[in-house]
Amino acid sequence: MSEVAVVGNIAKAAAEIFLEATAGAVAARGTANVALTGGSTAAPLYAELQNWAVPWPALQIFFTDERAVPPDDPLSNYRLADDGILPNLRPDRIHRLYGEAKDLDAEAARAAADLRSTLGTPPRFDLVLLGLGPDGHILSLFAGVPSSGLRGEELVRHVAAPLQVEPKVARLTLTPMLVMTARTVVLQVAGAAKAPVLARALKGPEDLVACPAQWLRRASGRVVIVADAAAAAGL
Ligand code: 6PG
Repeated sequence: MSEVAVVGNIAKAAAEIFLEATAGAVAARGTANVALTGGSTAAPLYAELQNWAVPWPALQIFFTDERAVPPDDPLSNYRLADDGILPNLRPDRIHRLYGEAKDLDAEAARAAADLRSTLGTPPRFDLVLLGLGPDGHILSLFAGVPSSGLRGEELVRHVAAPLQVEPKVARLTLTPMLVMTARTVVLQVAGAAKAPVLARALKGPEDLVACPAQWLRRASGRVVIVADAAAAAGL
C-alpha cells in the first residue's frame, strides 16, 4: 500500500513517520530495526529527529547502502549518520557496512549473516529510509544494471561503481527483498529535477532494471512517499 504525502517540510513529515514506526515497533516487539540511507535528504531528517521523542536505546540501526570508503570519509553514509543521530544510539546496536573492506563480496556475506541473525527469518525491517536517485535508483540499485532487477535472496550485494551517478565508487547495498518485506518504507523526494523520475517510479511502465525504484510497487508493508510540491508535480 503506498501513499504520497505532498508536504512543505519533508524532513518534518518523515520524522513523524520515523517516530510512529519506531515507537510502534518498540511497543509491539521491544525493539525497532531501522535501515538508514545516505543522500542529500538524510541530513535534514537527522537534524529534525533531534526534536522528536524517538526511543533511541531500543533501536537497532543498519544501513541501506554504503560507498567503498572508510567510515571517516566525507562520502561515507555511516559518517553522515554519525554526524546526525548515531550518538543517540547504543554503540552495540549500530551495524555498519564496512565500505573500507578489501573484499566487498566477503563483507556483503558478513553483513547478510548479521542481518539474518538480528532480524530473524524472514528478515523484516520495521523502517527503511530511502532517497530517489536521478537515474531512478533506490538503495544502490542503479538503472541499467542487470542485477538491479533481481529480488536478492542474498540480502546484501556488492555493486560495481556506477557509470552515471556520483560518487563513482563501488557500493554495498541491501537487496530489493528487504524493501519488499519491510513493515514501513519512507522515500523522501525533493525538487523539480526528481519529478519525472518519481512519476516513472510510481506510474511508468514496469521495468525494474530501467527504473529500480519501481521495486517499491512490490512492497508488502506501508510505503510513504514524502515529496515536496515540485517533486510531486508529475503525479
Ligand atoms: C547513496 C544514497 C542514495 C540516495 C540517492 C538520492 O549512498 O548515494 O543512499 O541511494 O538515497 O542518491 O537521495 P537524495 O535525493 O536524498 O540525494
